[in-house]
Amino acid sequence: MAITEPTAERTTDHPGRTPEYPDYTVPGLSTEDGARVIALLASRLHALNDLSLTLKHIHWNVVGPHFIAVHEMLDPQTESVREMADAVAERISALGGVPWGTPGTLVAERDWQDYSVGRADAIAHLGALDLVLTGIVEDHRRARAEVASLDPVTEDLLLEQLRALEKFQWFVRAHLESCRGALSTAGARTEQQAAQEAATR
Ligand SMILES: [Fe+2]
Repeated sequence: MAITEPTAERTTDHPGRTPEYPDYTVPGLSTEDGARVIALLASRLHALNDLSLTLKHIHWNVVGPHFIAVHEMLDPQTESVREMADAVAERISALGGVPWGTPGTLVAERDWQDYSVGRADAIAHLGALDLVLTGIVEDHRRARAEVASLDPVTEDLLLEQLRALEKFQWFVRAHLESCRGALSTAGARTEQQAAQEAATR
């Protein structure tokens, strides 16, 4: 990691940066459509990189009676999300774009707040994580819907990832669900609210 160099401004005319339109893209796709798909995937790459770090953060900070179950549940999920990020980044490259995976760019370009729960009970973290996953699944679904008419290969990639993300959210929600099928965090709008409701019900 180069830590002694000054932070460089990234602009679209930077030689290593995705230009407004790629010079080439996959056969059968216009460069205009390729550029739109690349932009959608760039946002998904940030979301998946962010999620993989957040999952490790929870893995490290979870406490309480359910520690080992949640601590160990999150490792294979982290690995799966890292593979998703890799697949998205490589699709951007195949489309003629530049996958930008640095932390500073992620923070500068994301439109969500950093995960807000520190050391906390396992159930509290799962309440907050459920909200995180809801945001990612909704955004993935929106991106899939938009690429459907542009690039079925990217659509297939996002669809496959949605299947895994929604299964993961089911694993999380099963910890928050009553035998009548109600979620303890229903109605929570912030991670802190969800964490508190999950931990107290
Ligand atoms: Fe670990």
